[in-house]
Amino acid sequence: MNVAIIVFSPSGNTLKVANMLKKHLEMKNIEVQIVNITGNESIFSTHSLQQFLQTHVAEHDVLCIGSPVYAHHLQYYVKDVMTSLPAAENGWGKFAIPFVTYGGTTSGIALEEAGKLLKKSGRIVVAGMKICASHRMTRAFLDEEYNAGKPGDEVLPVIEELAQRIEMLKSQKNAIDHSEALTYQTRTFFIKANVIFREKLWHKYMYPRVLLDQKQCTQCGKCVRNCSVQHFEKHDDGTILTKETPACIHCFNCVAGCPVKALSLSGDIEKAKEFMGKKIQQPKENPLSAVYPIGVMA
Ligand SMILES: Cc1cc2nc3c(=O)[nH]c(=O)nc-3n(C[C@H](O)[C@H](O)[C@H](O)COP(=O)(O)O)c2cc1C
Repeated sequence: MNVAIIVFSPSGNTLKVANMLKKHLEMKNIEVQIVNITGNESIFSTHSLQQFLQTHVAEHDVLCIGSPVYAHHLQYYVKDVMTSLPAAENGWGKFAIPFVTYGGTTSGIALEEAGKLLKKSGRIVVAGMKICASHRMTRAFLDEEYNAGKPGDEVLPVIEELAQRIEMLKSQKNAIDHSEALTYQTRTFFIKANVIFREKLWHKYMYPRVLLDQKQCTQCGKCVRNCSVQHFEKHDDGTILTKETPACIHCFNCVAGCPVKALSLSGDIEKAKEFMGKKIQQPKENPLSAVYPIGVMA
């Protein structure tokens, strides 16, 4: 049995989970291919997503797709992947499993969105997984990153559970679609996520902007390499500039990685700190990490 894992992971947490899952599946003699689309030039610069998927994703029985939760939603590039998937035939497996990592404030409606999109693509959504991780945005403006160091060993039982459910598919020709089990938030929450937390608007108007100070910049190109969506480009004269598209998705890898601090945040940082401060005080999701539907392996 073969599993393909497509993953978008601007700051590494979702990729870490993909690798954990790969390890647990390989222990069960299941072959795994990880296709990491983060920062991929042919996707983010030339927009040939479908062609990329056709040529890079090997034959598989089960397709897993991993994404971070951004502003309560499935990251929008991952939505694009899900809507661009070839039909579940000719080597593209009929079983699908979305998984998300989130920063411990809320996993939002990301898994629900993923479940609906994968079902719409003609696949059977056999399970979904959410994993509580470090909140990568908070590293940009809180003194300490929230949930730093996560995910770690505490999520291994959840990963193992998903690996076991995938292993069970070996003997199941007609597994049941469980996409509805990924709707675990209330309808009020769903409406709030769609009305207030509109991801692209948050990127445009709410999150602190990233500013590049040309005087400080040594043109080392680290931000170009670190950017998860090819938002930066280096010109022939060495100058580094930002592009209008793809727009910045505020993963803040560039700011965190700039060796000379030529990149900084602008905007109302105090307001952002206050907002995040409140978010991390809110009651936590229970369970923090899980495989849906819950309780199947019990
Ligand atoms: C722009 C942005 C928005 C985020 N929104 C949320 C959110 O709504 N809820 C949450 O719990 N975490 C949120 N996070 C935290 C990420 O979901 C979390 O750090 C995730 O593990 C990052 O995955 P990655 O390391 O694979 O990029 C956000 C992070 C960023 C950068």
